[in-house]
Amino acid sequence: MGTEEAIKRWDRFADTYSQNHSEHGDIHKEVFLNPAIFSFIETITNKNVLDAGCGEGYLSRMLAKSGAHVTAVDYSARMIEIATKRTPPDLEIHYQQGNCEELHFLEDHSFDLIIANMVIHDLANYEKAFREMYRLLRDQGTFIFTILHPCFVTPGSGWEKTKDGKKLHWNVDQYFYEGAYEQRLGDQEKMLFFHRTLTSYINTLMKTGFRLEGIIEPKPSEELLQQYPSFEEDFRCPDFIVFKVKKS
Ligand SMILES: C[S@@+](CC[C@H](N)C(=O)[O-])C[C@H]1O[C@@H](n2cnc3c(N)ncnc32)[C@H](O)[C@@H]1O
Repeated sequence: MGTEEAIKRWDRFADTYSQNHSEHGDIHKEVFLNPAIFSFIETITNKNVLDAGCGEGYLSRMLAKSGAHVTAVDYSARMIEIATKRTPPDLEIHYQQGNCEELHFLEDHSFDLIIANMVIHDLANYEKAFREMYRLLRDQGTFIFTILHPCFVTPGSGWEKTKDGKKLHWNVDQYFYEGAYEQRLGDQEKMLFFHRTLTSYINTLMKTGFRLEGIIEPKPSEELLQQYPSFEEDFRCPDFIVFKVKKS
């Protein structure tokens, strides 16, 4: 399945996906990803920021409300439409439809910060996307991206349960498989993901020219755990990993 089919699936899934997103994203973003992303951001006021694969745009709006000049791209026309509708006119966000692997309409060295939140594992050619992010950043600019943790979320992973549904442990399989796999996201839509090993991610970042600044394997804070006790299981193994790298 190629990019055209992946875009069609995101277009079809965009409305359902967006329904779960409030102004802080969905519950996983609120508990795990937003705290990690914002802990990695230095200054944001008046910075030029690219939200690469913006979806319905909650993160773009959070960044713009913090004072950033935000450009947001997504290859799904329906996502861009929803994001535009959800953005109040006083927020400075420039939405454009585009593929993160080839953003020719954006100029070299034009961003201080690029964030790709849960997008890189959607990309058929992540090496190309990393090169695009590198091209678009100014020197010493920062690239932050979040992905499903490749050591634990693999094509063959899932809970081992007893007959009555008690979770025993998390199984991991096919870790060294690199390539596409399908996973159901909503009730109907099967989305396409790409698995790569942690080694491939880190070596590709270094080969592109990025310097690793930090990694977070997010766990819920005590406060959010009280609010959402079911996330206790995320103390057993992480679902996500967040990278901060710099253009050196
Ligand atoms: C899981 S959603 C995340 C959306 C948003 N970043 C968020 O955190 O809410 C993935 C998004 O990436 C977009 N996407 C996937 N591959 C892309 C690509 N190659 N170029 C641009 N957007 C892409 C999809 O259309 C979808 O909106």
